[in-house]
Amino acid sequence: MEFFLDTSDLREIAELSELLPIDGVTTNPTILTKSGMLPEEFFPRLIDVLTPDQKIIAQVVATDFDGIMSEARTLSRLRGGENIVVKIPVSHVGYKAIRAAGAEGITVLATGIYSPDQAFWAAKAGADYLAPYVNRMCNYGDGVGQVAELIQTLRQYDMPAKVCAASFKNVDQVHRLLAAGTPAITVGPDVVRSMIGHPGTAIAVDEFSSNWKAAYGCGDLGL
Ligand code: E4P
Repeated sequence: MEFFLDTSDLREIAELSELLPIDGVTTNPTILTKSGMLPEEFFPRLIDVLTPDQKIIAQVVATDFDGIMSEARTLSRLRGGENIVVKIPVSHVGYKAIRAAGAEGITVLATGIYSPDQAFWAAKAGADYLAPYVNRMCNYGDGVGQVAELIQTLRQYDMPAKVCAASFKNVDQVHRLLAAGTPAITVGPDVVRSMIGHPGTAIAVDEFSSNWKAAYGCGDLGL
């Protein structure tokens, strides 16, 4: 499975990539504005921070067909086209663009998905990834349950599109989608840090250190 960071914070991307096997980074126009940089400055810096095997998943901003296709082609050539995925929202014209971009060999992530039905059509249109907005879907009902069901639906029809669950506000949502077998997921650094940290672990490590120091007067094995 693939685990992406949903952020434009280059420091967080560098730090978490050093700690954890992060498979890449997703951005959207809103996330990009938070970097305070324009795309021509941001993407080269992102490329510098990542290793070539880490995917860059970047979104078009244009909303008309020709504009989406033009931006999709430009984004798909970032880093010489290596491990680049282009995000296209599932607006009406977006479905057409997803098909057309796929036909041109562009790897596409269908984004802005609020329902399993939108995801189904994006999968039929040939999207490689589908990004249901889990937390936002929770405003309307059981977002986590609907995405878990979507994973099953795609398996049932043997559709190759991978769910890349997105829009998380807490660890429990992430945990439940991982348990449901999501093939990909993108999570913000704050939630990732909450996943890996537990106060109990810090207490246990302090206890090991203080017991060791009390017995042997040092902080390592001394081997
Ligand atoms: C994925 O990249 C999505 O654009 C993102 O997770 C949306 O998150 P939000 O609901 O916090 O805006």
